[in-house]
Amino acid sequence: MRLAQCHNFHDFRRLARRRLPGPIFDYIDGAADDETTHRRNSASFEHCDLVPNVLRGVQEVDLSVNIMGQKLALPFYCSPTALQRLFHHEGERAVAAAAARYGTMFGVSSLGTVGLEELRKAHDTPQVYQFYFHRDRGLNRAMMQRAKDAGVEVMMLTVDSITGGNRERDLRTGFSIPFRLTPAGVLQFAIKPMWGIQYVSHEKFRLPQLEEHVDMSSGAMSIGRYFTEMLDPAMNWDDVAEMVRTWNGSFCLKGIMSVEDARRAVDIGCAGIVLSNHGGRQLDGSRSAFDQLAEIVDAVGDRIDVMMDGGIQRGTHILKALSLGAKAVGLGRYYLYPLAAAGRPGVERALGLLRAELERDMKLMGCTSISQLSRANLRFRSG
Ligand code: LAC
Repeated sequence: MRLAQCHNFHDFRRLARRRLPGPIFDYIDGAADDETTHRRNSASFEHCDLVPNVLRGVQEVDLSVNIMGQKLALPFYCSPTALQRLFHHEGERAVAAAAARYGTMFGVSSLGTVGLEELRKAHDTPQVYQFYFHRDRGLNRAMMQRAKDAGVEVMMLTVDSITGGNRERDLRTGFSIPFRLTPAGVLQFAIKPMWGIQYVSHEKFRLPQLEEHVDMSSGAMSIGRYFTEMLDPAMNWDDVAEMVRTWNGSFCLKGIMSVEDARRAVDIGCAGIVLSNHGGRQLDGSRSAFDQLAEIVDAVGDRIDVMMDGGIQRGTHILKALSLGAKAVGLGRYYLYPLAAAGRPGVERALGLLRAELERDMKLMGCTSISQLSRANLRFRSG
């Protein structure tokens, strides 16, 4: 199977699985506990049917949106995700370049493997910096200042990862940074030698957002341990309100799910919220963002930009989320599998396919701009 034969999410996932050592594939592909929420994220779109209008003259379709003060050519963006150079040696460079090619926003994670400054300089497209709240308040201030100095447009605080999710696939393989694999995990690397050759023949693996601040020399740091030991479980609304004031720009909370929290995000001056269950990787049993979307949009949609992520695999998924009232949707695994499968050309192909799907779906729905999408064109099935 080659890149040209990848036509959808499932094809890219299959190619990524073929190229990646098992523990790395499972880190991307896996989720918490029984992975129920992860499965439900995509399944939740199936309870919703589209009711198209026809004969409306749809030759030109405008997919652009404005979110949090940023104009995007597309209503989907690449959410920040960790450790991208582990999946493909181009890592964030490939994802940022592909996002820029399509005029959309990309995120850089605190656990990113390319420096946020380098990426900000390389592309004009808006950049989100994903932030974790550390126990060390000085470190938090220093990291925010660094993002400000770099010219990052949107600060995005992840609020659903106050402790590590129970990712049993990672426990089984021993996935950690740097690698401390179980014997079964080591074998998985041995049978994918091409990945190893690429990994050792490129720039050394680093975490440039953190390395000045966090001592990683003492041995393997699992993602779960990083969350549990470095991040501050005491974080509360007062802390975040202070961060919003300090940042003094577009500030967004990722991982909001309840109406009560959405209202508080408005009260402290956030520009946006992302409904998210972290791809099902944190609290298994959590509701899907799509199922929760209408409730949140009805409560705060006129005062804050509501976005969502989780389970997006198709143009019609995006169409449904936008029709319910989301301003834009975030992609995670949707671009990570293509990254792992083929680097920049992979991510470009995946984003291009999704844009083409969405444009086709808009025409079939009888809509020429995102503002024409509405709940009038949706029906929910019970059960
Ligand atoms: C994860 C974190 C790092 O889900 O976002 O693995």
